[in-house]
Amino acid sequence: MKKIVVLTGAGISAESGLKTFRDSNGLWRNYRFEEVASPVAWAQNPELVLEFYNIRRKQLLEVEPNAAHYALVDLEAKYDVRIVTQNIDDLHERAGSNNVLHIHGELRKARSTADPSLIYDIEGWELKWGDQCEKGSQLRPHVVWFGEPVELMPRAEALMRQADILMVIGTSLVVYPAAGLIYDVDAAVPKYYVDPNAKNIGGMRNLTPIAGKAAEVLPGLVERLLKEE
Ligand code: OAD
Repeated sequence: MKKIVVLTGAGISAESGLKTFRDSNGLWRNYRFEEVASPVAWAQNPELVLEFYNIRRKQLLEVEPNAAHYALVDLEAKYDVRIVTQNIDDLHERAGSNNVLHIHGELRKARSTADPSLIYDIEGWELKWGDQCEKGSQLRPHVVWFGEPVELMPRAEALMRQADILMVIGTSLVVYPAAGLIYDVDAAVPKYYVDPNAKNIGGMRNLTPIAGKAAEVLPGLVERLLKEE
């Protein structure tokens, strides 16, 4: 079975109703990420940080996967599909994808501030100041903040190196180290970049940019790939 590695970003969830970060009206146009998504913010105003993610989590519970998420599930009929997502939403899993690596963490999980191996599912939408792990330490969102290491990078890089086909969907490719993952893929591997702003990436061979919305482009692209194999 050929392996398709898929790198997704906020754009794949846009048509489900979740905001991206950098588009006009994106999250980082309305919030300063230093104030809600950084270790300094957590130290200075943890309640604001919790509130920011509580709002995100509440919205997530109100939306559904879209045609792009479902198309990637269909792809599993003939390919070994590995999704590497920058998204903290769980829409890939709710659509039915079986292999999803969340390199920036997971919105519906909380982590102990004393022992990072203690990770819990959050019931409902609210994580509160005072919510504790079993060792009595405050719980924080299980997400990667600006300035924190991306612990899952080695696993993501290994997947990129195994790709027979690469799909990059709905990401501005500006946030590193995630954006650098595409350079771990062999030059000879066919690559598709689906995004309304998709364009050629300097020096990248065998890349097909497809300018369009993920939910509109993906079903057709997946159908083609299923016929090819
Ligand atoms: P961005 O907001 O930077 O980029 C979103 C991308 O989605 C843009 O390239 C848009 O053109 C595209 N887009 C918008 N609507 C779309 C649609 N309907 N279909 C397909 N694409 C669409 O989001 P990311 O690239 O995901 O990290 O951002 C990367 C990281 O920056 C995030 O994981 C987050 C953020 O800060 C952390 O919080 C650690």
